[in-house]
Amino acid sequence: MKDNFGREISYLRVSVTQRCNLNCVYCGKIECAKKDSELSPEIIEKLVRAFAKCGINKVRITGGEPLVRKDICEIIGRTREIEGIETIGITTNGVYLSEYANEMKKAGLDSVNISLDSTDGSTYRHLTGSDVLTKVLEGIDAAERAGLAPLKINAVLMKGVNSDGAGELINIARNRKIDVRFIELMPFSDDGEDSSLIVTGDEILREFSFLKPMQSEEGTAKYYSAQGFKGRIGLINPITHKFCSDCNRIRLLSDGKVKPCLGYDTVYDIMQYIDCESSLIEEIKKIIMNKPSGHSFESESAGHGLNKTGG
Ligand code: 5AD
Repeated sequence: MKDNFGREISYLRVSVTQRCNLNCVYCGKIECAKKDSELSPEIIEKLVRAFAKCGINKVRITGGEPLVRKDICEIIGRTREIEGIETIGITTNGVYLSEYANEMKKAGLDSVNISLDSTDGSTYRHLTGSDVLTKVLEGIDAAERAGLAPLKINAVLMKGVNSDGAGELINIARNRKIDVRFIELMPFSDDGEDSSLIVTGDEILREFSFLKPMQSEEGTAKYYSAQGFKGRIGLINPITHKFCSDCNRIRLLSDGKVKPCLGYDTVYDIMQYIDCESSLIEEIKKIIMNKPSGHSFESESAGHGLNKTGG
């Protein structure tokens, strides 16, 4: 369905947990993220079914880290059964991906986005607090073998931290059918992000001038190709190029609250309607209608902690 600004809202991001097994520098500390407030697969199914009846056809499962949930395959399987849901993707840090790739594919998962900010072991450890780069790389291989597609890597570059590894990340798209997408650093951590750390999409294009724009613009990413590349390079520029005017997404948080815009703290509690589908649908429609026209990450109302929203 369309919101008040004429945007067709078709994409639901479902955060299934706030918990995460990593502790990335740009994400904010996870203070006692609790299992108790997480929704069961049955409840998630009920909610997503109601969203599907409001025009959602694409679901992305996020967290926290979704693969810390032992019932992740059941969540995927139940989502797959919902009429109207055409594609299901997941965004993961990849640490447990090698264990779950086959089972998730069987449960009906289509695509995987893996967060990987460096291919250098010690930089990776510095960024995430964990020495698990090898596990993540194995996870990417396993996802490829399982036929999960498309595979995309999300990387956040920070000046003087991991920006010198951009070329290595780009090489993944050169050698494999994997898209590598650079996301401009957004101010989400508790103490705010130092804007001097941001590497803009334009800076990447200046440094890697062999990248040529492609026609395809999918959602938030603008894609680039280069001679001989198997995958594409994507730039997601929330800071330098706001894409609010064609934002098609809405978010379901891990406690059942609905967040219509990543850039605002406003959330809506719809769990009180869980036993009455028609009321659920009515509430969801109201929330979609009133989605803000745009975010302002500079303002006080900006949200905090991607661990809560899954980006
Ligand atoms: N700025 C930009 N991207 C971020 N992500 C997490 N925190 C930030 C931030 N502060 C990215 C993760 C993940 C995606 C969902 O969001 O790398 O891949």
